Amino acid sequence: MSTGRPAPEREATIRGLRARLAEARAAGRTVGLVPTMGFLHAGHCSLIERARAENDVVVVSIFVNPLQFNPGEDFDDYPRDLDRDLEMCARAGADIVFVPGGQEMYPEPVATTVRLGALADVLCGASRAGHFDGVATVVAKLFSIVGECSAYFGEKDFQQLTIVSRMAADLSLPVRVVGCPTVREPDGLALSSRNAYLGEAERSQAPVLRRALEAGAALVQSGETDAVAVEAEMASVIATAPLAEIDYTAAVPVSTLTADGPLRGDVRLLVAVRFGKARLIDNTGCRAG
Ligand code: PAF
Repeated sequence: MSTGRPAPEREATIRGLRARLAEARAAGRTVGLVPTMGFLHAGHCSLIERARAENDVVVVSIFVNPLQFNPGEDFDDYPRDLDRDLEMCARAGADIVFVPGGQEMYPEPVATTVRLGALADVLCGASRAGHFDGVATVVAKLFSIVGECSAYFGEKDFQQLTIVSRMAADLSLPVRVVGCPTVREPDGLALSSRNAYLGEAERSQAPVLRRALEAGAALVQSGETDAVAVEAEMASVIATAPLAEIDYTAAVPVSTLTADGPLRGDVRLLVAVRFGKARLIDNTGCRAG
């Protein structure tokens, strides 16, 4: 199906991207950025479409960032399909697809990285040491390369969204960070490039993450303010899936992502669960107290 828009231009160099965007800004055009690691799905497309609706020029970056993978994680196996990604970017309305190589992004061994505070040590950061420093470093580079823009991130990676928003504010980066709703399969499974790792039986059990979050949210809405009780409720739902291995269940204040006494105000419920090779995450918001 034709979108009536020209196919996006592919750009591999930082210099080339900066030149294109300088020209656009000189003409008074606003810029939207959607950072991705490729293997795009409908969740990414919803970010691109939102950027399309709110900006004159839409840039999608595709770069599997080695800094955010620990030894033994899936950097080498991370699913990649650039031709398909480019088609999806075209359909969703991207103008420029930035696809730098590893040498372009990191021409020298990296001596300077973003070092995050406590927000990065909890939840996914507790089992993936250094992961969010790697994310923040590449996102800071992308923000520096693209310059003033609105940048679109999915709420499925809620800790990442929180950290990136905080980094942009702390470092006075000229970027408006926009969080966008999670896109789900009809059975509730949040879309993720890593869903590609799920075998048939694992896939059929994976919607348990969503059901656990719903049970946790119902408990909070019924008046429960004890984070431990809410976390146990979510864990008991996940335990009904024989192939699920819980990494964490968490009920935390949205501002700190760290439990500190009874739950009050805006709360985030988050879960991370392994199904074989796939480590899946999901979350939802609710109000407590
Ligand atoms: O969410 C992702 O795909 C990545 O963490 C990001 C933000 C593109 C940084 O590599």
